[in-house]
Amino acid sequence: MNPLRSLILAAAGNDAIRNLVAKAPLSRDVVRRFVAGETTAEAIEVTRTLVASGVSVTLDYLGEDTTDASLAEQTVQSYLTLLDQLHEQGLSASAEVSVKLSAVGQALDETLALDNASRICAAAEQSGTTVTLDMEDHTTTDSTLRVLAELRRTWPWVGAVLQAYLHRTQDDCAHLTGQGSRVRLCKGAYAEPASVAFDAGHEVDLSYVRCVNTLLAGDGYPMFATHDPRLIRVIAERAKWFDRKPGTFEYQMLYGIRPDEQLRLAREGHTVRAYVPYGEQWYGYLMRRLAERPANTAFFLRALASR
Ligand code: FDA
Repeated sequence: MNPLRSLILAAAGNDAIRNLVAKAPLSRDVVRRFVAGETTAEAIEVTRTLVASGVSVTLDYLGEDTTDASLAEQTVQSYLTLLDQLHEQGLSASAEVSVKLSAVGQALDETLALDNASRICAAAEQSGTTVTLDMEDHTTTDSTLRVLAELRRTWPWVGAVLQAYLHRTQDDCAHLTGQGSRVRLCKGAYAEPASVAFDAGHEVDLSYVRCVNTLLAGDGYPMFATHDPRLIRVIAERAKWFDRKPGTFEYQMLYGIRPDEQLRLAREGHTVRAYVPYGEQWYGYLMRRLAERPANTAFFLRALASR
């Protein structure tokens, strides 16, 4: 992994740096490029704008690695309020939610995370929308897939993220190609050891393409989460090869990244979904976005320096 990326990912887990950045007089615009805001109302406003432009949304209430049951409960309550609002504002046909199990208690107890995720799924069902489970570092993959399997017994539409950088992922894709299965395929954003993950970018890309083939050949609904122009071209080619029409799979990108490309694909008739994070705990998320791309870091530092 390149040294800058390792450094920024290390900073993402460092409390001293977290406090420093969180207290810095950050320009709202910098954080706002990648984060919809801190409140439900702000998240709903960004959702409304994206949906009006033809882009669907998945909303992530930011918060991860909770080791406190009351914080996990707070996260559940935030999702319940959000789902209520999506329904009330007529947005639930185009906006779903993404949930990190670590934010609802996975590190404390898998059963607690399952119970909490079940409450969110029940509320999503009532609101007329869906839930996708984010995937975190590799130590949580088995647990997340166990929770997914449990949730899908009641709500077969619950989706999950799989990360192409993990050696195991093509097999995981093969297990999730059945009817109704929703898999969001991404490259992977955590610092992982070579024992479990490909390190070289081209190896990750090759793995991503193998997974694209597996998912498109299956009966599920693949959700291709990438900003990579080469991969987007490959997905378009393979979709034709597997006779997948628009609407039988979708493209997903992060809020604030390649917005023009999001609109271009939407105008071509594809479902495009932006992943929209919001909430007070934006720090870890922002650090991962900076680690992905030196240009993002330069943008961030320039904005800080100009304060
Ligand atoms: P990569 O970062 O390698 O970029 C490839 C190319 O894309 C670049 O060379 C450039 O051409 C273009 N590009 C990238 N960023 C750009 C920018 N800011 N502006 C212009 N061009 C840019 N990860 C995870 O571990 N667990 C998860 O649950 C999720 N969930 C998730 C949901 C969604 C909807 C998305 C889009 C992503 C995730 N991720 C994730 C993050 C994912 O793993 C990955 O870190 C990022 O998507 C970046 O990877 P790319 O595929 O974009 O390629």
